Amino acid sequence: KSPLRLGIAGLGTVGAGVVTLLRENAAAIAARAGRPVEVAAVSARDRRRDRGVDLSGVRWHDDALALAADDGVDVVLELIGGAEGTARALVEAALARGRDVVTANKALLAVHGARLARLAGESGAALLFEASVAGGIPAIKLVREGLAADRLLRVGGILNGTCNYILTTMRDTGRDFDDVLAEAQALGYAEADPSVDVDGWDAAHKLAILAGLAFGRPVSFDGVFVEGIRGIQACDQHFAREMGYRIKLLGMARRAGEGGAIEAFMRPCLVAQDSPLAHVDGVFNAVVTEGAFSGPMMIEGRGAGAGPTASAVLADVVDLARGKALQVWGVAPGAPAACAPRSTLRG
Ligand code: NDP
Ligand code: HSE
Repeated sequence: KSPLRLGIAGLGTVGAGVVTLLRENAAAIAARAGRPVEVAAVSARDRRRDRGVDLSGVRWHDDALALAADDGVDVVLELIGGAEGTARALVEAALARGRDVVTANKALLAVHGARLARLAGESGAALLFEASVAGGIPAIKLVREGLAADRLLRVGGILNGTCNYILTTMRDTGRDFDDVLAEAQALGYAEADPSVDVDGWDAAHKLAILAGLAFGRPVSFDGVFVEGIRGIQACDQHFAREMGYRIKLLGMARRAGEGGAIEAFMRPCLVAQDSPLAHVDGVFNAVVTEGAFSGPMMIEGRGAGAGPTASAVLADVVDLARGKALQVWGVAPGAPAACAPRSTLRG
């Protein structure tokens, strides 16, 4: 069978991770995809940088937008990041041409997801984004497919690996915030601008995506109450422990009644030490759901880093190769649902 040809935009932690995983597990991926999967073209800012991956025989585009117009590319992988700029322009251009897109970009989806889904629907392209929430955990598949028959009452969890790594390491070692953040960056967990992680925005982006899928309506990201972890000090963790709690950056979205507003927050919370969430440590994330029929559920796994994220990106590619991908965003068209005003969720 003819290979499925990938065009990869972005060769950082995730992009290089995808190339590595594809090379190391090519036979299994081809077997599951029903055809070989190959990297046909790539783009990044600096052509000369050594990325530790073999790109021989792969076309290089200095302009990432050229991937959308490259007729030797079947699927565009957007692994650049950011809600605007080249990432947004590339996804829009590829979808407008009817080209399937796989992205790990939660900022883009939280802000423009509903519009991009419409664009995909109009052109018949698929827009897949398993890697955008909780790294290697199949969070999107859980909410969109596994719980497709249920009525979800709430969804959320620990959704940022960098923050969980910082909180856990500070608690266990007494090291200071900046030192541990630098380590999380070196490990490839943090966003290009790490304030997006530590100020809570990245986790809030993921919560908005999950809530949109869970409640069947686009969720307006602007309405999510967001507070990050900069203010958490070693003494806070100490007192929390004395009282029988752990501090976690935790988010939850719930519907205030059928058809009602969606309430969503992402903020540091005290979690009882005997709760399973309290033991989700390091770079691990946990996705929590409560369905009217399935009841409570929690899935835990690595929430950031090259391997887990590449695994989620390529799972989408395998779905596309099998022709299994859902063609839709998974939420009804229409204006974003109003979230409860941020102020009502304070305190
Ligand atoms: P990196 O910062 O490591 O890599 C970004 C890549 O994009 C770099 O290769 C960079 O090029 C390239 N790039 C930047 N601007 C442009 C441009 N204008 N044109 C072409 N290429 C460009 O980011 P990550 O790999 O960590 O993240 C990528 C995406 O995946 C983001 O959306 C992120 O939120 C998401 N994600 C990341 C996870 C992680 O654990 N790191 C987990 C889940 C999702 P160059 O190398 O030349 O500078
Ligand atoms: N910066 C993100 C995190 C990457 O730390 O969770 C995974 O989405």
